[in-house]
Amino acid sequence: MTHAAVTARSVVAGQARAIAAAWSPQDAPAGWWLTAETFAAIAEEDDLLDLAAAIPPDRLPPLLLGAAVAFLVRERRAAVGRYYPEPGGGQPRRDGGFRAELVDFVRAERGALAQLCATHRYQMNEVARCADVLPVLATIGAEDRRPLALVDLGTGAGLGLHLDRYHYTYRSAVSPDRTVGDRTSPVLLTCEVRAGAQPPVPAELPVMADRVGVDVEPLDVADPHTLAWLTACVPPESGAVTRFAAAAAVARAHPARSVRGNLLEVLGDVVASTPRDALVCLVDTYVHVFLPPADLRRFDDLLTELGRERDLEWISVDPLVPLGPDARASVQGLDLPAAWVRDTREGGVFGVIGRVRVRRGRRSGTLLGRAHPGADWLEWR
Ligand SMILES: C[S@@+](CC[C@H](N)C(=O)[O-])C[C@H]1O[C@@H](n2cnc3c(N)ncnc32)[C@H](O)[C@@H]1O
Repeated sequence: MTHAAVTARSVVAGQARAIAAAWSPQDAPAGWWLTAETFAAIAEEDDLLDLAAAIPPDRLPPLLLGAAVAFLVRERRAAVGRYYPEPGGGQPRRDGGFRAELVDFVRAERGALAQLCATHRYQMNEVARCADVLPVLATIGAEDRRPLALVDLGTGAGLGLHLDRYHYTYRSAVSPDRTVGDRTSPVLLTCEVRAGAQPPVPAELPVMADRVGVDVEPLDVADPHTLAWLTACVPPESGAVTRFAAAAAVARAHPARSVRGNLLEVLGDVVASTPRDALVCLVDTYVHVFLPPADLRRFDDLLTELGRERDLEWISVDPLVPLGPDARASVQGLDLPAAWVRDTREGGVFGVIGRVRVRRGRRSGTLLGRAHPGADWLEWR
């Protein structure tokens, strides 16, 4: 094996271990065992590591392979599929057999898996992040009498466009549960509020006068293959699988406007397409974190330029940048507690919740909190 190949394997194995640790830390609920075990197998089993290390580094090799495996297991109706949760069902029990069966499956399907990895992109859509956005949007709605126009940047499958169609429960050890939304919604989001301030949970969900998504590659959940692939990209944990399926059904039932394109190029036209009397709320969850530094600066300039014409809000839920061990800044340029930077450097994964307000061209930013990437918990300031 060449030196480059050895290095690629070692880098990918490290990424797989980091993903297992981030999604399934020591205190994670037991249901995360399958996710942890899948990524541990990618790090430790030659048959899986060979496939992952052959994926170009910018295509998130361990995550892409994990999705390809989940997709093919389902498509082939393989016996190892009994370990994977179904929407609405519980988490299948752990026993000693999963790892060996997984390796046998991957060995037998090596060619098909390589083909899937070559032709697909890893695409995570986490509807639970709406629980991080809602308190911010509701605060804006309470402060401003104008109707709200929601512009979801990097919308992917568009699940964030329907945040007013879900039911939310905010749990706290120090106060009773606070709930809001349609109790009959198939999408039930529960989030634990950690010590600190309570987020401003509204009595009623904000009303959207308009909603539009933007993505370089919008994903149509009405297309069965797209839906099957996106389902495979969801970590195989029963809660995650259930809420994705339910949110995808809501998105199918309420087709929303979405614009294909680089947000930096289409944002001006998208903003102009919303009702003139509406306050435009740009929302980005786990999108700006992936923009190169030059594009982040271009977005800032664009915000200033558009903000001269029209009042705007930008709600962001993004990990610190640059991604990785040198992370030190919020994508919105907000001042951060030193502990958050340290936590990120020590491997903690969370999204920073921030709000940038642009009124008559003047911009002000507020750091509001931080949240687990799958909105299991929320910390408000
Ligand atoms: C990690 S996903 C997040 C999807 C969704 N916001 C969520 O939180 O589940 C990032 C999304 O941003 C989109 N994206 C990345 N860069 C973009 C750009 N410059 N313009 C438009 N969309 C972009 C990707 O295609 C992808 O759908």
